[in-house]
Amino acid sequence: MTQDQLKEAVARAAIAHVVPDAIVGVGTGSTANFFIDALAEMKDRIPGAVASSEATKKRLEGHGIRVFDLNEVSEIPVYVDGADEVNARLHMIKGGGGALTREKIVAAVASKFVCIADASKKVEVMGRFPLPVEVIPMAREHVARQLLRLGGQPKLREGFTTDNGNVILDVHGLAIVEPEELEAAINQIVGVVTNGLFAIRGADVLLLGAADGVKTFTRV
Ligand code: A5P
Repeated sequence: MTQDQLKEAVARAAIAHVVPDAIVGVGTGSTANFFIDALAEMKDRIPGAVASSEATKKRLEGHGIRVFDLNEVSEIPVYVDGADEVNARLHMIKGGGGALTREKIVAAVASKFVCIADASKKVEVMGRFPLPVEVIPMAREHVARQLLRLGGQPKLREGFTTDNGNVILDVHGLAIVEPEELEAAINQIVGVVTNGLFAIRGADVLLLGAADGVKTFTRV
């Protein structure tokens, strides 16, 4: 199976977690796009969705799925999104597509986070994938110096602006053995909007696509 076929398989499996008659939170990225396409087939059974990015909003609306502003919504039973890396405790690195802040906000409102990923995303120790950090533009150099002190090698994502008008520093060279602690430490740096570690609030369910089928992992 190709990587796209694995992504499509987990995206389709996630449909079983969507709660009828309730709003669903929708992530960003190529795997989330397969989920949006699958969601379109059951769009008459949900009032609509909350989107984690402008790109996701556009794709949902392109399928005729109503997109709610998060401020209009008090409960989201399920949020479905991909990941750049995920470990055995269902901590994740996210933000390869730059949507980490809105993803983290929608995930914070959701009761259940369903992570959909192909098997290449599962790792023992996170950090091979550079950790994205969204930063207020005027704080870029200050935050970069602090990230160096934490042991990482920050690199500005050239030519990229987030949906919130900020920049991304991708932090290379980290071996993240204590994800919750690192997530909290980076969030303490003045000028950081969000970092792409989703450990303090990780996934509740992981649907992992492999050649022999979709495997389900639950957070313990
Ligand atoms: C978007 O900002 C990211 O968090 C994505 O969810 C993550 O990068 C996974 O993307 P793919 O499904 O495209 O690998």
